[in-house]
Amino acid sequence: MSTVWNGARRRIHMQEVGPRDGLQMESVFVPTADKIAFVDALSRTGLAKIEVTAFVSPKAIPALRDAEDVMRGIARVPGVVHTALVPNVRGAERAIDAGTDELNLVMSATETHNLANLRMTREQSFAGLAEVASIAVDAGVAVNISLSCAFGCPMEGDVADLVVLRWCERFVELGASGITLCDTTGMAYPGQVAALARTVRNRWPGTQLTMHFHDTRGLGLPNILAAIDAGVDRFDASVGGLGGCPYAPGASGNVCTETVVHALELMGYDTGVDLAALLDVSRRVPALVGHDVASPIVKAGRRLDLHPEPASVAALRAAAAARVA
Ligand code: COA
Ligand code: ZN
Repeated sequence: MSTVWNGARRRIHMQEVGPRDGLQMESVFVPTADKIAFVDALSRTGLAKIEVTAFVSPKAIPALRDAEDVMRGIARVPGVVHTALVPNVRGAERAIDAGTDELNLVMSATETHNLANLRMTREQSFAGLAEVASIAVDAGVAVNISLSCAFGCPMEGDVADLVVLRWCERFVELGASGITLCDTTGMAYPGQVAALARTVRNRWPGTQLTMHFHDTRGLGLPNILAAIDAGVDRFDASVGGLGGCPYAPGASGNVCTETVVHALELMGYDTGVDLAALLDVSRRVPALVGHDVASPIVKAGRRLDLHPEPASVAALRAAAAARVA
């Protein structure tokens, strides 16, 4: 599919999940004021959506126990949707009360991962999330459903597309305006991604479809390119490649936002993101979390961030010129 869409560069919406998917994994508690400053800086880079926090049990995820304070403390920027992960009715009430723009409901496509992550069967999750969706719809707050392990489960293996489609259908019937297919542990591969993306887009053309890839096995960017070819225009990613899942063995970070933006802009897509501003935020992430992060673009620079020539080059150049003369 071409990078040009209706005469303009094709728009790809970038959605940042670092403050939630990233910080939930960190052993240090990032102070509330620092989280707010982190989200505020991200909100000014041109990202379409930011997952600010999770309204989950503070015992389950202590790193995000300040969800209300963060959601209430951030500055709202026109055009940026501030979403939050919500696992149950309690979380929905907290999130709506704190002024969250969109509730991101979560359950797994497979029974084993759902039991490990959410301590419920999928049917129990669905019953709870149906209640959450009805609360959100009544409150006029948008609902997105994130289906974990949509491309494979670290315990069950392959997941049939039909299983994923059935859960999508049930959530669309509940009034979800968006579906995110999550490759929670980096099991997706391009052919699979393209096929599932095409099916979901054809079946629910009016539903916002997001793909959420982890770069666990180096397939993050190839999967994004395959999804774009299949018509997908929204991707989750995390600045500095932060992230993972506490209940998925070996899970590593999300695909890195600045790597994706750098690549897509070179390929002629319009991400809407100011890469220089995003890199400024990424450079501050190690200080925020207390360890180095794997951001190739921060480490190597953008493609045309050139380096000064070594001092020896001038002398060699002069010697070569003298020989010619
Ligand atoms: N917000 C605040 N507290 C919550 C809560 C929420 N959304 N959901 C549950 N709790 C509290 C309960 O009040 C209870 O507290 P208490 O022990 O002081 O009474 C405790 O958590 C246990 O509640 P219970 O209803 O028995 O739920 P649970 O322990 O089975 O928890 C989850 C289920 C899913 C809500 C919880 O495990 C959770 O939040 N997990 C986080 C999942 C996650 O974020 N995974 C990573 C991203 S996919
Ligand atoms: Zn994830």
